[in-house]
Amino acid sequence: MDKVVTCVAPVNIAVIKYWGKRDEHLILPLNDSVSLTLDCDQMHTKTSIIAGPLINEDSVWLNGQIMSIERNERLKKCFDLIRNLIKIQKGKNSQEEKWKIKVCSENNFPTAAGLASSAAGYACLVYTLANAFGLVNKDLPSIARQGSGSACRSIYGGFVQWTAGVDDQGYDSTAVQIAADTHWPEMRIIILVVNDSKKKTSSTVGMKQAVKTSELLKYRIQKCVPERTKEIIQAITDKNFEKFAEITMRDSNQFHAICLDTYPPCVYLNQVSHEIISFVHDYNEATGQVKVAYTFDAGPNAFLFIQQNDLSLFMSELVNVFPTVQPNSSYLRGIVSTLPN
Ligand code: DP6
Repeated sequence: MDKVVTCVAPVNIAVIKYWGKRDEHLILPLNDSVSLTLDCDQMHTKTSIIAGPLINEDSVWLNGQIMSIERNERLKKCFDLIRNLIKIQKGKNSQEEKWKIKVCSENNFPTAAGLASSAAGYACLVYTLANAFGLVNKDLPSIARQGSGSACRSIYGGFVQWTAGVDDQGYDSTAVQIAADTHWPEMRIIILVVNDSKKKTSSTVGMKQAVKTSELLKYRIQKCVPERTKEIIQAITDKNFEKFAEITMRDSNQFHAICLDTYPPCVYLNQVSHEIISFVHDYNEATGQVKVAYTFDAGPNAFLFIQQNDLSLFMSELVNVFPTVQPNSSYLRGIVSTLPN
């Protein structure tokens, strides 16, 4: 390879949350999750790679800073798995598996702020490596998963399900596309950036504590997620916004209830997040229909779902209540706004 290969991977927003692992090392989840991947021109990671016999060492740069591959077990694992795939797909005589690789990656949004940066980051790394070495794509979600669980969903566009599976080695834990991005073109995502600083408890640490200490987590996995997953897939297939919205909000609320049930508790939402939740419920009640849904990951920032026809009226109400909201019109499918902390 004598040229630089560059790819872009967008973030994905989970509507049924992944929270808890059944295998920490292989990154296998305790429950299925469902997400929507944003379009490529929105919040994304852009990764460039060059590899070849003249490169003298592996190196990874993220947002202009060099990262230690040796000290980052997940990064190292992704490199190892890709090299293994090169060996399998290109044959023993290929020298490419020995080539050193230079990676340069940039997020066009804040890293580690609960804005799904690791999902876009690892999906992009694995996808770009596969493209650079001309590898067949079938194993990519499971390699990206071993970088960061939610990354396996960003390999695909549109609506995606990551199945938990039961196999010890994780052969049945993979991401599949439920519906292409063209399936529900009226769907819009508004991202309200409440706080873009690095979160106090990472998702990895938060979910590990939850598995150890939360009673509610067990209930969620056994009694709630299987039915909810079926129902939301049906709602997506039927483009039933009301159903989609209710399940999305209930799942976000249950996820944050588990965070509070964790001991010591993980508090990701703040006062502004709660104001947004109330605002959405008041708005839906006033219109007599469910027009908007919210979901929050491991941070205070809100992801709102709404259909195009309802967008302008909702945005005018939103800026009335939160005057500092500044929709960024360069985001075609999503709208990113900034709110005070
Ligand atoms: C709240 O995928 O970041 O965003 O697998 O430990 O890297 P690791 O965790 P990560 O967790 C994401 C959690 C979430 C929900 C979700 O995206 O499903």
